[in-house]
Amino acid sequence: MRSSLPLFPEQASTFAERVDALYYYLLSVSGFFVLLIFALIFYFAVKYRRRSEGEQTPPILGSIPLEVAWIVIPFILVMIMFVWGASLYFTAFSPPANAMEIFVIGKQWMWKVQHPEGRREIDELHVPVGYPVKLTITSQDVIHSFYIPAFRIKMDAVPGRYTSIWFEASKTGTFHLFCAEYCGTAHAGMGGRVVVMKPSEYEQWLRTGAPEESLVAAGGRLFQQLGCSGCHSQNSIARAPLLDGVYGKPVPLQSGQVVLADESYIRDSILLPQKDVVAGYAPVMPSFQGRISEEELMQIIAYIRFLGEEGPEPRKTTR
Ligand code: CUA
Repeated sequence: MRSSLPLFPEQASTFAERVDALYYYLLSVSGFFVLLIFALIFYFAVKYRRRSEGEQTPPILGSIPLEVAWIVIPFILVMIMFVWGASLYFTAFSPPANAMEIFVIGKQWMWKVQHPEGRREIDELHVPVGYPVKLTITSQDVIHSFYIPAFRIKMDAVPGRYTSIWFEASKTGTFHLFCAEYCGTAHAGMGGRVVVMKPSEYEQWLRTGAPEESLVAAGGRLFQQLGCSGCHSQNSIARAPLLDGVYGKPVPLQSGQVVLADESYIRDSILLPQKDVVAGYAPVMPSFQGRISEEELMQIIAYIRFLGEEGPEPRKTTR
């Protein structure tokens, strides 16, 4: 659906059309009732006007069919909104398993993007058309919100936490990228562009520019440099949990709870190691709070994820 009225941004993701369809439904339901109510106000005002001094209002006894109608019809209309909206919501928050993953960090006042292959960019996001892309988002200072109107996606970037959203671009081109959460003086300038390219061009783009190490390689290097490998390895003296294959698995904790080893858990384990101690281990790990940047955290997480994956190569971007 391409409207000739420029009320909506361009539809450039598979999600956009579905969001707009729901929006049109909300608009038409609201529009219909606004018109109906206003028309009836005027009609009744005229029809039931007082015709003479001393005219008495007749007693009103109510009407069962009328009451049933104004309960049942709005109920059905809002339940459609609920089911429709919820299904879109679940789609937006369940990335397909084969989605390629890109990391996004918000800071005052720019967006920093890291591709798994190592290419980094600022205030720009290059993606291939026709592939699902999952964004893992955080902030290194205040709350921002990553917003691509043409894709109909918006997700908060929250310090100390990872959020994620996904999309599949449906056409090539350049689209706006905004920060949609007031974050200080230069909030309005915190934006850029999303460049959707043909997959072959994207592959080429990834390979151009300064040769940078992949996220996994950078994470592996940090893992050595920061001394993680001293304890978290097969032949270390200090007893620390091995991290091979830990990602995505349930981890039993000292407290008796079991948590899923996702990005947030790994992040917390690095910054707040005393928070969730693995069952059977002593809380001896030092905190890396303040010693490690958000970029480095994402690299180490990428490395730990890779540790359990099969094959010698990190996850490929193409299917
Ligand atoms: Cu960042 Cu507004």
